[in-house]
Amino acid sequence: MPSTAKQIIQMTLLCSVVILSVAVGSVFGQTSNRPPTYSQPASPTQNPLLEEMTTHDKAFGIIVTAVAIGDSEKVHSAIETMRSSIEKTRTGVQAGTVTLPKNAPRFKDFLEMEQKFQNKLDALDRAALHHNQREMLRITNMLLSACVKCHQMFRK
Ligand code: HEC
Repeated sequence: MPSTAKQIIQMTLLCSVVILSVAVGSVFGQTSNRPPTYSQPASPTQNPLLEEMTTHDKAFGIIVTAVAIGDSEKVHSAIETMRSSIEKTRTGVQAGTVTLPKNAPRFKDFLEMEQKFQNKLDALDRAALHHNQREMLRITNMLLSACVKCHQMFRK
């Protein structure tokens, strides 16, 4: 075999070894350098108020769409998820484990607003039960106003 051909084969072999070791190294390197999953930042679900708001956020989006297409069942199930999270916040505020970011001493007004909000949710649920789309629309508008009103008063 001419020496140039030998050199080419040698070079090719060397290259493959280098490429292979880099590839293997990066695979193992990646797995060992990945941060452990338990060091994730604390989730907002540890605060009942923020948990409630995350639920409201998702559920209200579902309600808006469900009202738009007249899907009473979806309206009803979204309301169910909101109810239980409201209850947790109310307990937390009363026990002093939840502090409001703004106007904190006015927690009685906050609880009153929560109650009014919940009454409107109950009314929406009744409208859904009767498949009354016009009424669902009217109450959904009122609920949005209630979100805004409470945020103006208690959200920073
Ligand atoms: C009775 C009061 C009240 C009502 C009603 C209310 N919220 Fe809130 N919401 C708050 C407070 C207080 C905060 C701030 C919480 C914090 O930062 O600790 C908040 C925060 C939020 C946040 C987080 C925003 C951020 O700071 O990133 C979202 C999203 C949210 N609310 C959605 C809603 C939606 C949607 C509705 C209505 C369907 C609603 N909320 C109704 C009191 C309320």
